[in-house]
Amino acid sequence: MPLLGSIRLLRDPLRSLSEARDRYGDVACFRVGPIRFVSVADPALAQQVLVRNHHGYVKSPSYEGLALVLGRGLVTSDGAHWRRQRKLAQPAFHRQRLALLADTMAQCVRELLDDWEARSDLRVDVHEEMMQLTLRIVGRTLFGTDLGSDLGDLGPAITTCLHKANQYAESLIKVPLWVPTPSNLRFARAKRRLDAIVHEIIERRRADDQPRDDVLGMLMSAVDEDGQGGMTDQQLRDEVMTLFMAGHETIANAMSWAFLLLHQHPEVAQRVRAEVRAVLGGRAPGFEDLPRLPYAGQVLDEVLRLYPPAWIVERQAVVADRLGPWDIPAGTIVAVSPWVMHHHPGLWEDPERFSPERFSPERVEGRPKHAYLPFGAGPRVCIGNNFALMEAKIILTMVLPRFSVEVSDPDAVQLDPRVTLRPRDGMPGRLRPVTDPPSA
Ligand code: HEM
Repeated sequence: MPLLGSIRLLRDPLRSLSEARDRYGDVACFRVGPIRFVSVADPALAQQVLVRNHHGYVKSPSYEGLALVLGRGLVTSDGAHWRRQRKLAQPAFHRQRLALLADTMAQCVRELLDDWEARSDLRVDVHEEMMQLTLRIVGRTLFGTDLGSDLGDLGPAITTCLHKANQYAESLIKVPLWVPTPSNLRFARAKRRLDAIVHEIIERRRADDQPRDDVLGMLMSAVDEDGQGGMTDQQLRDEVMTLFMAGHETIANAMSWAFLLLHQHPEVAQRVRAEVRAVLGGRAPGFEDLPRLPYAGQVLDEVLRLYPPAWIVERQAVVADRLGPWDIPAGTIVAVSPWVMHHHPGLWEDPERFSPERFSPERVEGRPKHAYLPFGAGPRVCIGNNFALMEAKIILTMVLPRFSVEVSDPDAVQLDPRVTLRPRDGMPGRLRPVTDPPSA
């Protein structure tokens, strides 16, 4: 449109980006108001932006929306501040540390399943159940605290904050937050709720004299290599909020999409059940068991291909670059969308089909590396990627042997691509206890 440019990109980004890829090729340029926005759907060019030339790019201004909620944590910072924080937080996500968390994750899932078993009404909102579960897990594993009864009203507060982050990022004219519009007032209330949780997480820990070596403990005692300068209270608040939000919402979305796909493909669910039975008998998976459940892993890889919770990764060029034959002036926003890449007919055979077989080791080997990037790539790759895959596998392999999670009206579930890719208006469904275990 004159002056406004491609505003449909804001209204229906998944379709606009995919159509642009199909019509114009792997580098497509949009203008939204005064902003030039380039979408890249070629794995080699994605690698260039996110990995090889990453020094020439910073996080795009869209992340300012998220910064309203997260402050300057890992997701929303750049440069020396980001490098320092990443170095401080990274050890908390090493393999040996993750191994210690598997049993806690399994315990949280067991509690959920016991709750489900005790219910008389088996109708649920699948997305809501997954949000509650992943909140419980993030509380215990990252912060060593039981958010327990606090969880009930958090979902709406989180949704309000993410909506605001999105709206703020997209609006060409930004109404300052102090203006008492209904949307600003709702946001202020919701943010106070989240701030209170984060404050409580930190204060509970300060009151606890036991030294603990979970993520929160590591952040609180983190010091630079020269032994100086831990985090200020504000930095700690921002990192805790960042991990709290990034650490549960994405996985809740991934698991909701997983249950939708498994409802639509019961033969895949049965095959996971058979694998779990053969490997674990009736017990819960431990950390060492996870590599022995490869098919469940392939299912999750395929879920993250079709429904990548982080559906877009954006940067802004700080110096000019050249993407293929195209000059990219400094200041251009460059987006690599896992959604667009993962549904690319030139990269995936029959891309809309759900087929975990795509992730067999032989088939993965023959594919360009950055054709699949649910966790991003390069130095800003998701710090929680292994944590997320481990948690998702534990949830999947514990839920399926005990319940079928049915989605009431799969065709009515709509995509809501905001900060993350969520189901719009939840995912109404029903739990069905599994009574007839498949033979291994
Ligand atoms: C299925 C689950 C998840 C998905 C799909 C996902 C996806 C992503 C993606 C694509 C990025 C890169 C963003 C960019 O380059 O702009 C990212 C960054 C990040 N993720 Fe995740 N994530 C998931 C789970 C988690 C978990 C469980 C945690 C923490 C426990 C986490 C914490 C973070 C943080 C802190 C960053 C920023 C890293 C940095 O810039 O240094 N994520 N995530």
